[in-house]
Amino acid sequence: MSETWWRGAAIYQVYLRSFADGNGDGIGDLAGLRAKLPYLADLGVDAIWLNPWYPSPMADGGYDVADYRAIEPSFGTLAEAEAYIEEAHALGIRTIIDIVPNHGSDQQDWFVEALAAGPGSPERERFLFRAGRDGGLPPNDWQSIFAGPAWTQVPDGEWYLHLFAPEQPDFNWRNPEVVEEFHAILRFWLDRGVDGIRIDSAAVLFKDLDNVEESYTDHDEVHEVYRGWRAITDAYEGRFLVGEMWMPDQERFALYLRQDEMQTAFNFDFLSRPWDADELRASIDLTLTTHVPIGAPPTWVLSNHDVTRPVTKYGRPDTSFSHQDRKHGMPTDLVLGERRARAAALLAMALPGGLYVYQGEELGLPEVEDLPDALLQDPIFARSHGTDRGRDGCRVPIPWSGKEPPFGFGAGTPWLPQPADWKNLTVESQQADQNSMLALYRDGLRIRRTELGDGVLTWLDSAPGVLTFTRDSTLTCIVNLTPDPIDLPAGQILLTSSPLDEGRLPSDTTAWVR
Ligand code: NOJ
Repeated sequence: MSETWWRGAAIYQVYLRSFADGNGDGIGDLAGLRAKLPYLADLGVDAIWLNPWYPSPMADGGYDVADYRAIEPSFGTLAEAEAYIEEAHALGIRTIIDIVPNHGSDQQDWFVEALAAGPGSPERERFLFRAGRDGGLPPNDWQSIFAGPAWTQVPDGEWYLHLFAPEQPDFNWRNPEVVEEFHAILRFWLDRGVDGIRIDSAAVLFKDLDNVEESYTDHDEVHEVYRGWRAITDAYEGRFLVGEMWMPDQERFALYLRQDEMQTAFNFDFLSRPWDADELRASIDLTLTTHVPIGAPPTWVLSNHDVTRPVTKYGRPDTSFSHQDRKHGMPTDLVLGERRARAAALLAMALPGGLYVYQGEELGLPEVEDLPDALLQDPIFARSHGTDRGRDGCRVPIPWSGKEPPFGFGAGTPWLPQPADWKNLTVESQQADQNSMLALYRDGLRIRRTELGDGVLTWLDSAPGVLTFTRDSTLTCIVNLTPDPIDLPAGQILLTSSPLDEGRLPSDTTAWVR
């Protein structure tokens, strides 16, 4: 495989605690993942991105990291992680891990030491501790991204900043010790054979705490950090960085993809858009104009562990996505949603660049919107006082086989309950059905592997409500977002997301024609 394999890779996201449980404790783990590697090889993915797998009190599903150089005990051991990386490599699957630089866990040694050492100590300088304002007020009025204040007071009176939950204290990136520590962490994992690094909350590392008007997103200083990271990864062969930045300004976004910074970043504009031909085309054009001139491959993402499952989203009267309003409980037509999700999958797979597939997306799992309050774990739920039910609905354990929960997930009771009607969505049942979502993903990824991925897109003329483009002049992708069937161009039909209607392409359907 080439040094730049990641340019067109299909990357499968594993949310470990919900993927497969090997030891029967109801929590997915490395043993479970290792047992399912043949499934992923068969699906045809080039790499796996794992959400944080480090020891964590799980205040935010592992994004509160207590030790960056070890494995969460309920997931397994470092030796198992190394064995997994090797086994995956043997099947041609690379590994991308998740590094969380903005914040650690309040249980991490550094933070425990900072609390003990007290105000003014070098230990506190690794975090963002400040005195409060008069009247017992926090240093400023910033709100946490998870709702509620972004500051928590410690017993000696100082406050520390946490852009997310209080259990996730922010690091001080102006302290060279922090910079050095993350360089060492990167080397630790690159030495163990990981092929890529997903950078969590990549744009928010620097804060101007004295300037209340100033936001904490996208300070220029952050680019120096990624230049350093790039230099480190470049010393290894075929490794790459993918940044997580939710940034509306595409020009600013592109700065992170300069030649000496990250190779790639997640494209969230595409998944935020409604199911509408003009909107999708605008997003594709915006993405290409941002990436092509600087030589960075775009990425296409329909879902991940933070957003509403596509089948549910695309079945709603409002098909856009926004973190500010997740539209939880908005009525949805899952038959329509699935039809559109299938069409969206073939569209995303046909676009030039890399592709991310979140576990369960290939099964067409819907968002689980009726989880009981008492079982919700996402800190957003409690911190918003229940006004935002959070992200647990897309994190429910995968149904593998059988007719009732836990659907082969493992021997124990899954940490979040699976809906009883998922019996028709199991891997086992979909493997037996040529028309299943799983079959569509497998067929699409197989064709994509040889004919799509990195390359050039050329738009062709089409009627309003229809998207038509060719890829490198060999394959044409047509998406019909109008209510009526349309004619297909002449050629060999390679794949359609739904059956044709007397030879014509029906509404909410994508076709690939050679
Ligand atoms: C982005 C991650 O995807 C999300 O799950 C997490 O809660 C925040 N960053 C904070 O780490």
